[in-house]
Amino acid sequence: MKKVYVTRRIPQKALDLIEAECRLEVNPHDRVLSSEELAAAVGDAEGLLCLLTDHIDASLLDQAPRLKVVANCAVGYDNIDVQACTERKVAVSNTPGVLTETTADMAWALLMAAARRVVEADRYVREGKFKAWEPMLFLGEEVNNKVLGLVGMGRIAAAMARRAAGFNMTVFYYDATRKSPEEEQDLGVEYRNLEDLLQEADYISLHVPLNDQTRHMIGERELKLMKDTAYLVNTSRGPVIDEAALVRALKNNKPAGAALDVYEHEPELAPGLAELENVTLAPHIASATVQTRTRMAVMAAENLLAGLKGEKMPNLVNKELEL
Ligand code: GLV
Repeated sequence: MKKVYVTRRIPQKALDLIEAECRLEVNPHDRVLSSEELAAAVGDAEGLLCLLTDHIDASLLDQAPRLKVVANCAVGYDNIDVQACTERKVAVSNTPGVLTETTADMAWALLMAAARRVVEADRYVREGKFKAWEPMLFLGEEVNNKVLGLVGMGRIAAAMARRAAGFNMTVFYYDATRKSPEEEQDLGVEYRNLEDLLQEADYISLHVPLNDQTRHMIGERELKLMKDTAYLVNTSRGPVIDEAALVRALKNNKPAGAALDVYEHEPELAPGLAELENVTLAPHIASATVQTRTRMAVMAAENLLAGLKGEKMPNLVNKELEL
């Protein structure tokens, strides 16, 4: 039986699928493995089911000569050196589609929480400060009828545009690849270049994958372009924002606020970030519902098993290997 290593306990349904066909080993610790521990664990494995907290690089692959498949239990796969995998004929898969609506729900929750100061207000009530209704208490910003700027126009951004329609918002998007006029019309979105989008949007939500083009896409210059009243939401990957620059900008309330689910040096926060009142912080949980995490794990397991059997992997990333 082929050995499959799973780097963290994941929903049982996925583990059962793997165990029915393979020799399954799961990281017994309730923490991320060090690179040495991971290398030792996959040294004799044919399959690896990993998470975005695992770094799959050339050095690890060289210590795992039998490895055929790396199934990432995430839609983003910037934690994997795909080229190094391709060079070694190791198939890589991800989990697109199954977390789209869930992630958009969370991005929307963060947007609303930031605009209406929900977390600050919660703290205020818990601290016993709520004495009476007040005409000027916790005034936030409108969301309805405002302008939403989507950076990236993939599946999750499209789900954001659908939500924005219910709030009567105008939706602009920027993407390296422009959609056709028909697609734009279907999505209810208008194209803007990045500068114009940053200058015109009241809410800016990031939905790009992390790569060399998107790393620090939002830095000091871009933050300065935003309206003073704008809010920035990030549920994509932390390094898309220069987080130190964001802290400096938020200290001056320009832009007005941010809501983040991801961080540049996760799980570390940029110095000063946690001290700011105008930022809402979540611990990378945009896809974290029982249903979605189960779907993601099952999808990763199915890809893994297909790859190990030499069958077509439904969500193969390095498609060159299919030829
Ligand atoms: C989560 O961040 C994912 O990429 O699935």
